[in-house]
Amino acid sequence: MTTDVLQKHYTNLADDYDTYLHYSGEFVRSLTQKMVAMLDLQPDDVFVDLGGGTGMYSLDIVRQVPLRHRVVLVDPFPEMLAMVPEGEPVDTVAMDGLQFSERPGRYDKILIKEAVHHIEDRPRLFRNVFDRLNPGGALLLVHVPPELDYPLFDAALERSLNWHADPDELARQMKDAGFLVERDSLDFEHEMPKEQYFDMVRACYMSLLTSFSDEELAAGLKEMERKWADIEILKFNDHFDYIAGYKR
Ligand SMILES: C[S@@+](CC[C@H](N)C(=O)[O-])C[C@H]1O[C@@H](n2cnc3c(N)ncnc32)[C@H](O)[C@@H]1O
Repeated sequence: MTTDVLQKHYTNLADDYDTYLHYSGEFVRSLTQKMVAMLDLQPDDVFVDLGGGTGMYSLDIVRQVPLRHRVVLVDPFPEMLAMVPEGEPVDTVAMDGLQFSERPGRYDKILIKEAVHHIEDRPRLFRNVFDRLNPGGALLLVHVPPELDYPLFDAALERSLNWHADPDELARQMKDAGFLVERDSLDFEHEMPKEQYFDMVRACYMSLLTSFSDEELAAGLKEMERKWADIEILKFNDHFDYIAGYKR
């Protein structure tokens, strides 16, 4: 995964990120309820959302837990952070996640939702985060697996196998960093008009898709049109691994 692809992807997508990836309030709430539970988020916690993007998940979390401290929302792309609405209890930090983890600071709970695959030196990230967490603190990774169940073209499904992080390896690396690791998962069934999903793919709603050339993407969309020629509504499963690391 090159930084050029990520730069192109998140600077281009920032304005439309929530349009494509919010899906529905029910979808976001089902994910955040499980985040709150696995993090055991308490009102006094200092909460960091690392690679938090537009703050979609943090904003829904603060609707459920009245945090006394402002959320620390870290993301290297100011274009993503700029989408956080004004007046929310969120402080944004425009910084790479690994770099942030090396800064002095103490935190209680850290969420990394679909961003850990963008950080290459994950063993170092987990060691840093373990050191920064207060005793009783927790790190929660939430992300899609390498094997996607999305109605995408074959080359995208194949590239995903190396694009997204391997949950078993993440769990091992977290254990090595000192965490007590617990795993769970959540499945959500999406249902949407085929054209809506095709538009999302055309707009490269995932960084994986931005890694294809315009010609490859056009060919991929043609393949999808052939594959689902007789279907108007697409139904597909979104699987999220939840990997929590507790510092006892
Ligand atoms: C798929 S988005 C997820 C955003 C948010 N967590 C969510 O679920 O809506 C991945 C996020 O990781 C951020 N990111 C990319 N490289 C990163 C890095 N090196 N450190 C931290 N975050 C990074 C991107 O800017 C983007 O906001």
